Amino acid sequence: MRKPIVALLGVWSAVIAVTVATPTAQNPAAPAGTYRPPPAPEQPIAYSHKKHLAQGLECARCHQTAETEDHAKLPATSTCLSCHARVKTDSPDIQKLAAYDAKKEDVPWIRVYRLPTYVYFSHQVHMSTGKAVTCETCHGNVREMDVTQKVKDTSMPACIECHKQQSASVRCDACHEPRGSLFRQHEAHEEHEGSFQ
Ligand code: HEC
Ligand code: HEC
Ligand code: HEC
Ligand code: HEC
Ligand code: HEC
Repeated sequence: MRKPIVALLGVWSAVIAVTVATPTAQNPAAPAGTYRPPPAPEQPIAYSHKKHLAQGLECARCHQTAETEDHAKLPATSTCLSCHARVKTDSPDIQKLAAYDAKKEDVPWIRVYRLPTYVYFSHQVHMSTGKAVTCETCHGNVREMDVTQKVKDTSMPACIECHKQQSASVRCDACHEPRGSLFRQHEAHEEHEGSFQ
């Protein structure tokens, strides 16, 4: 269910007045430089970006829509099995992977970055800004991670800080309903929970 944003407005009106009106103000929700990454979740399979990216794979090999759609999406087991039908088949983790595939199930990955359903976000918009925005800007050095961890802040003050720096919109309706015209009518955000490709 989408939460009505209006119900949450009371709490935030004071915070927002500070954040939006005075760029230099310390934000009470996330003072600059104090973000503490939560511990990495324990995933059902010990997938390592570091090991895989060391083989020269591109992000798009597994997150095919990260530059072209709102959601980057997580890879289907068939993407993994394009190699693992042959590679490391004696590994317990790979056998687990093959078992999900045999049941035609996706791996139940625990999401690392997840916005509340009342926020709109689009990868395509950010990857086509023409400015220096890369995957690493918002996700850190994934390439070096054995376990994926949420090393970057995706709170509202964090979004707004960059939007101010890069002269992007800080209007409420850019990120909350009613949406600005930029967004095409796409499926309800919440239907993307754990979306795969
Ligand atoms: C391009 C080929 C390729 C693809 C695609 C691929 N892998 Fe791998 N994977 C490898 C290779 C090669 C290794 C061994 C790397 C090493 O040991 O340094 C490996 C190692 C692993 C391991 C460690 C196995 C062990 O016990 O040592 C796991 C787990 C794994 N991959 C999971 C996945 C998952 C999940 C996916 C899909 C999201 C995937 N892999 C996609 C090639 C691939
Ligand atoms: C071989 C497949 C593969 C490649 C290549 C790959 N990823 Fe991933 N990625 C995964 C899998 C599987 C997960 C889910 C497990 C996890 O969180 O570690 C994931 C999760 C993520 C997440 C966390 C998503 C969430 O909210 O749960 C981010 C961010 C991410 N990848 C970024 C990248 C970036 C950036 C690159 C390129 C530098 C990349 N990935 C390359 C397979 C891949
Ligand atoms: C401007 C910040 C930003 C950039 C740049 C960015 N991401 Fe994300 N990414 C996010 C946020 C925020 C989420 C959570 C989205 C949500 O919950 O709707 C996310 C979620 C994801 C996920 C989880 C699946 C999904 O679609 O929600 C993956 C995988 C991912 N990003 C990979 C990438 C890759 C690969 C790149 C580079 C091509 C990239 N991201 C660039 C902010 C960013
Ligand atoms: C690294 C800087 C950066 C970060 C971090 C960032 N954005 Fe953006 N965002 C931009 C830029 C630049 C644009 C403008 C794109 C354009 O106009 O071409 C933009 C555009 C957008 C738009 C479209 C705005 C419109 O005019 O309709 C939305 C929605 C949006 N961002 C949401 C978010 C959310 C939500 C977050 C936090 C989770 C976030 N952004 C974090 C740089 C960033
Ligand atoms: C650039 C994107 C962006 C803009 C612009 C933006 N917000 Fe947000 N907002 C977010 C994100 C992201 C969250 C969720 C943060 C989280 O909890 O992870 C959020 C959360 C909220 C919440 C819920 C807070 C809570 O504690 O549960 C309210 C209320 C809200 N925003 C109101 C507003 C208002 C009012 C404006 C205009 C002054 C505005 N937002 C502008 C991105 C944005």
